[in-house]
Amino acid sequence: MALKAGTDAAAVELTTLGERELRDRILTRPLPRHVAIIMDGNGRWATSRGLPRVAGHSEGVKAVRNTVRAAGEVGIEYLTLYAFSSENWNRPRHEVSTLMSLLERSIDRELPELMARNVRFRVIGRPNGVPPEVQRRIGHVVDATAANGGLTLVMAFNYGARDEIVDAFRQLAKDVRDGRVEPEEIDEVRIGRALYTDGVPDPDLLIRTSGEMRLSNFLLWQVAYTELWVTPTRWPDFGPRDLYLAVADFQQRDRRFGRV
Ligand code: IPE
Ligand code: IPE
Ligand code: MG
Repeated sequence: MALKAGTDAAAVELTTLGERELRDRILTRPLPRHVAIIMDGNGRWATSRGLPRVAGHSEGVKAVRNTVRAAGEVGIEYLTLYAFSSENWNRPRHEVSTLMSLLERSIDRELPELMARNVRFRVIGRPNGVPPEVQRRIGHVVDATAANGGLTLVMAFNYGARDEIVDAFRQLAKDVRDGRVEPEEIDEVRIGRALYTDGVPDPDLLIRTSGEMRLSNFLLWQVAYTELWVTPTRWPDFGPRDLYLAVADFQQRDRRFGRV
């Protein structure tokens, strides 16, 4: 379990670097193609300031904007953000409706910036249950950005990894029933194609803010060999420096994939 001495010393040094130094440093090494983030801690950010939880969600939108910009600027290809889980429906009605209307408002407002930054927008999750107006606006932004060739921003919205796996099973079962696929032909590639993330490479790096050490039903199939990075920073306080710090830390890891 011991860390390599060199790795440990370098890791300590990273935290002393500022945003620009980290940015320059990560640009000299191979970047993760796909970074996924569990954006957690909005509620705690707000309550620790004596504010209602929903104030944390509004503040969190700014962190989304800054993170998308920072990821695009260094050339990360895919950024997946966990915005609303299939279990988040179990929150108080007021909080759920605020989250829905925040998304509805932000999505239109962000379109010009997504276009200016050449960002392609995609959504993963079940449409069922999402208000039709929110679905319509999401569809509009997905279509409007479809030809953009920069960062692909994947928003996990009404997303649950187990729902996704259930939906993939159903699709593959129909394919077998209708004679399109033999059971023996089902392999990792076909399962990957049946998931919502079809066409998106598995995440290289998964960041979770606000300190919790769990996956909360996020990308369970796709994170098989993803590197994990957890920060105590709450999502509204997360900024480009934190993203670059996570990437710099990732770049000095030894990814083994079961080899020696
Ligand atoms: C993350 O922040 C945002 C969503 C899950 C929608 P939380 O709302 O979970 O904030 P905490 O974890 O309760 O502080
Ligand atoms: C995970 O955060 C979901 C999102 C960030 C959208 P939660 O706050 O819902 O996760 P738990 O309940 O702490 O596991
Ligand atoms: Mg939370």
